[in-house]
Amino acid sequence: SVRGGTAIINLDIEGPVISRHLYGHFAEHLGRCVYGGFWVGEDSPIPNEGGIRLDVVEALRALDIPNLRWPGGCFADEYHWKDGIGPREQRPRMVNTHWGNVEENNHFGTHEFLALCELLGTEPYISGNVGSGTVQEMSEWVEYLTRDGDSPMVRERKANGREEPWKVRFWGLGNEAWGCGGNMRAEYYADLARQYSTYCRDHGDNKLYRIAAGASDDDYAWTEALMRQISCFGCEATPKNFFQGLSVHYYTLAGPWEAKGSATEFDEEAYYRTMAAAARIDRIIQGHSTVMDAYDPKRQVGLVVDEWGTWFDVEPGTNPGFLFQQNTLRDALVASLHLDIFHKHAERLAMANLAQTVNVLQAVLHTEDDQLVLTPTYHVFEMNKGHQDATSLPVHLRTSGTGRQVGDSELETLSVSASTKDGSVLISLTNLDADQPAEITLDLRGGTLLEPRGRLLTADRLQAHNSAREEQVSVQPFTDLRQDERGLSLTLPPHSFLTVAGRLA
Ligand code: AHR
Repeated sequence: SVRGGTAIINLDIEGPVISRHLYGHFAEHLGRCVYGGFWVGEDSPIPNEGGIRLDVVEALRALDIPNLRWPGGCFADEYHWKDGIGPREQRPRMVNTHWGNVEENNHFGTHEFLALCELLGTEPYISGNVGSGTVQEMSEWVEYLTRDGDSPMVRERKANGREEPWKVRFWGLGNEAWGCGGNMRAEYYADLARQYSTYCRDHGDNKLYRIAAGASDDDYAWTEALMRQISCFGCEATPKNFFQGLSVHYYTLAGPWEAKGSATEFDEEAYYRTMAAAARIDRIIQGHSTVMDAYDPKRQVGLVVDEWGTWFDVEPGTNPGFLFQQNTLRDALVASLHLDIFHKHAERLAMANLAQTVNVLQAVLHTEDDQLVLTPTYHVFEMNKGHQDATSLPVHLRTSGTGRQVGDSELETLSVSASTKDGSVLISLTNLDADQPAEITLDLRGGTLLEPRGRLLTADRLQAHNSAREEQVSVQPFTDLRQDERGLSLTLPPHSFLTVAGRLA
């Protein structure tokens, strides 16, 4: 029988809106993400604006990135924001104990980060320090950033050259409190989240969206402990939530933590293990959502996957604490699969952040001195950007022969999602099969897709990647779209990602 499937897409049935924030990114003071990635300093020969690398800004602007999370990660819970303001040369230094034990000069601080967000046209998502900071410190950071008029923190901000407050919505109450963020028990952290959130005030019309540090992987007990404590029942006439979002972190590995495997030297078995691990995010989101539904049936609290992506061994010869890994076609397919799954959970998911934007883990950009490299993952975000703030269209996928046994789970190697926005439709299709093409029919009902255009991301090898020397993975036009009585038919090449876009009539 023919290997492939039919995707029934009802163009006139609207699913939930896919928040643009599902396409968020993450920049930590880790390895060469901030220093060398975003920040080169004003005296660098690399073109920059106020020290911020302009090629990186330009590439990210083309992705319409909706938000950027900073300064960590684990780093957030040892970061003291007051060390990162004022004249750069006078800023105190510290040791980045989590990442490579290197000295942090604090040259990239609050003003630099907010300037970066303005250049990118993106919303800041700031992670505050619960692990080693104080309630006062966090409260004053919010005041410094968002308060107008006159106050001690406002005067300090103005003295540092910023008259107007910034708009900061997304606010993290610590990070991985169960681990690097303080090794806390869920119940203890839940109390701290309530305490810290109390003093993270809404100044003027700046309304914070407070995000509690959530679970790792499938630790549903952590989510339950947090959700149990979410509301201020009985302490006010109108109960209010202490946090509006709750996070979860999930990384895709090709093996156990001690043997994650190489980013480029992998065989087909490791490839499928990676894909099966990536597909697990579906069950994990479902599991946390189910727990949240019990406490928040109206789905007002957002689930925030603020760290996701592949985590492989560092490239040989690089600092093990810098988490620099190559990015291949395999990473691109991990990304396209995740994004389909995120679209499916658009009702509960409020945000997701790929770890990490430049030079760290599943980066969309690599820098090689003054050169910039767009990784295969970058192209997935670019091809998919039309889904941001679009209305999801439910997809019913009927497949034959595309399931594959990986360990004790079955991996479906076809994945499809679709959305509509401003009179156009965007359909994303992934074929995870390493060797076999798939025959696909798009059975479009309740409307017509005019002038469909295809764009394909693939390469001859799963291990293909890009460098300043050679670009092995790039987007190509795809013209093999056949209109027949069953719909729009196409042959999806092995290990490929395709988007089909057109006007809705
Ligand atoms: O993204 C790298 C690290 O992974 C982050 O600092 C931490 O939150 C997670 O464990």
